[in-house]
Amino acid sequence: MRRRIVAGNWKMNTTYAEAMELVDGLKASLTEEVVGETGVIITPPALYLSDVVGALVDNEYIAVAAQNVHEKDSGAYTGEISAPMLASMDLDAVIIGHSERRQYFGETNESCKVKIEQSLNNELAAIYCIGETLEERKSGAFMDIILKQCAEGLEGFIAEDMDNIILAYEPVWAIGTGEVATPEQAQEVHAGIRAWLTERFDAETAENVTVLYGGSCKPGNAAELFAQPDIDGGLIGGASLKAEDFTAIIAARTNA
Ligand code: 13P
Repeated sequence: MRRRIVAGNWKMNTTYAEAMELVDGLKASLTEEVVGETGVIITPPALYLSDVVGALVDNEYIAVAAQNVHEKDSGAYTGEISAPMLASMDLDAVIIGHSERRQYFGETNESCKVKIEQSLNNELAAIYCIGETLEERKSGAFMDIILKQCAEGLEGFIAEDMDNIILAYEPVWAIGTGEVATPEQAQEVHAGIRAWLTERFDAETAENVTVLYGGSCKPGNAAELFAQPDIDGGLIGGASLKAEDFTAIIAARTNA
């Protein structure tokens, strides 16, 4: 049985005070009824991770992840944060290969692969992001591009590793644009990813991997996306910055 998950990617947003207020808001609104069996992950800016983990020590619902990790354990890499560092702060997971990191920071499928390895080696779950640009969607070759991201980013991993790897399909054209993929468009890609997982690993692994959708997912469209058989939850950007909206999306997952 695969896990249903709603993860919030805060990106480069919130001051410290706003971040802690958001955490307090989520602690108050995420009741057992709202969360049910849904896994909830939040991903604040790195600077606040330690205090956010501290604020959630007595909270059983909310896991905390980082937005990025470096390929090496330690060394002369000014400004970077490694997987052993994240693990030493009791984090649960890391987002890897977000399209913004691919676009603005030169991340490639190959560097993502190393980052996933680093995460798994340090007992951090990896949330591996894949997805096509608008041009790639229009060209019609989007599925080939997404499966190449899967193949290269997951090269060398074995079926058991997939217990700790979550995939997030985020069409770049839907991120922060208000233009959401239709449930049918998203389902088509998710089913394609699962078919690829069956071929690459086996049917049981494919069935058990959590595949999230991300891109303008909001309280108003979450339920219809989560009703699709291969969409296991969401990776939420803008709407994860408001406790009320994020809570509504989690409730939509729980009740789907
Ligand atoms: P939006 O929900 O703001 O479109 O962002 C999606 C995203 O990039 C999550 O990682």
